[in-house]
Amino acid sequence: MGGKLLASSHPAPLLSDIATSAAHGEDSPYFAGWKAYDEDPYDPVTNPSGVIQMGLAENQVSFDLLEAYLREHPEASGCGVGFRENALFQDYHGLKSFRMAMARFMETIRGGRARFDPDRIVLTAGATAANELLTFLLANPGDALLVPTPYYPGFDRDLRWRTGVNIVPVHCSSATGFQVTANALQAAYDAAMAAGTRVRGVLITNPSNPLGTTMERDVLEHIVDFVARNNIHLISDEIYSGSVFAAPDLVSVAEVVEDRRGGDDDAMIAARVHVVYSLSKDLGLPGFRAGVVYSLNDAVVAAARRMSSFTLVSSQTQRTLAAMLSDAAFATAYVDANRARLRERHDHVVAGLRRAGVSCLRGGNAGLFVWVDMRPLLDEATVEGELRLWRRVVGEARLNVSPGSSCHCSEPGWFRVCFANMSLETLDVAIQRLACFTERYGNKSIIRK
Ligand SMILES: Cc1ncc(COP(=O)(O)O)c(C=O)c1O
Repeated sequence: MGGKLLASSHPAPLLSDIATSAAHGEDSPYFAGWKAYDEDPYDPVTNPSGVIQMGLAENQVSFDLLEAYLREHPEASGCGVGFRENALFQDYHGLKSFRMAMARFMETIRGGRARFDPDRIVLTAGATAANELLTFLLANPGDALLVPTPYYPGFDRDLRWRTGVNIVPVHCSSATGFQVTANALQAAYDAAMAAGTRVRGVLITNPSNPLGTTMERDVLEHIVDFVARNNIHLISDEIYSGSVFAAPDLVSVAEVVEDRRGGDDDAMIAARVHVVYSLSKDLGLPGFRAGVVYSLNDAVVAAARRMSSFTLVSSQTQRTLAAMLSDAAFATAYVDANRARLRERHDHVVAGLRRAGVSCLRGGNAGLFVWVDMRPLLDEATVEGELRLWRRVVGEARLNVSPGSSCHCSEPGWFRVCFANMSLETLDVAIQRLACFTERYGNKSIIRK
């Protein structure tokens, strides 16, 4: 074995449908922009004209706090156990200490307004695995999940690729701040049924990626009633729940379930609502692959635990994070400081964009990005027009931002711009470049096809 594959006159051996499926979505501009950055990454000293990566929802603003904790608590990295304890067999329940720490942390970031039982926490390798796992458990190939647009581009891969499940978009519009309306939800449901597709659930992201806003309580209540009425599930991806930095505060679906305790439909609702979480955003640790599925449905918890065998979190990672998060004083101080820093960054970028003549969706209060309105720069209000503008922003301003069409936004001209994955100096260079770009092309008639 080994060595180079030689060209052969034999036909290539067949691969599975999954291996050859395009449902992965890797050809979308979302990922193409990452390639543009990888090929020519900006560096203030060695490559000052390179591409600045604003298409990656990564949180690097609070690393110093985590690093300081680990310096002061060197035992957290090893957690007093030796190599062998970490190396030996881990069953799929995960470490109790880590599940307890996760449960408490999820309560802390929701201001104690919801409770999480450590025995209902199923650990997964990030939210990617958690969302796919829940899709596997709640739907069969050919069934559908309703997902409000614009949505995180990775869902095309996570929910569809290996599961064979479809996404039916719930089209939301700027007229309502992209909040989900009863009509849009019902229209998506009816369209799926008319096409003979069985709807198994609704998947929301709260706070939203890419909008950077939280869902209003009455909208959430309506969605909960909708899933109960139609006997389907609700997955709430709350990966940004600890990154809400301005009012209104997050209303988690876990709170809505808690508030309805003791009501007539209490058990019926609790069995249908499932929460996804991970430490990739709030702690800025996507490399640690620490995610959670949380459900009050016993059958879902049992099946999720079995399926989590495929995507376990390493024992070493669990031990380090358990030590960090079970230090309540540290966890609270971290969340407060991280929120304040995100708020500062957010306000800085919104003000900078405003000076550059570009506005953002109003009410941005969460996440690592702003949802930017570049409609005035379009040569025509179509997806093609949006992609032409995007290619110019990448090619000329040397900024990789994510076009709204990669998030399935139904209105061309919106872009997601990330602000927490770079230094403040780099952010200022990016804002300056965008200002030059808009000054040059502010008159949309100049942007030719
Ligand atoms: C809404 C949403 N869900 C899931 C993920 C994937 O997160 P993880 O790194 O934990 O797999 C992301 C990452 O950007 C996201 O924004």
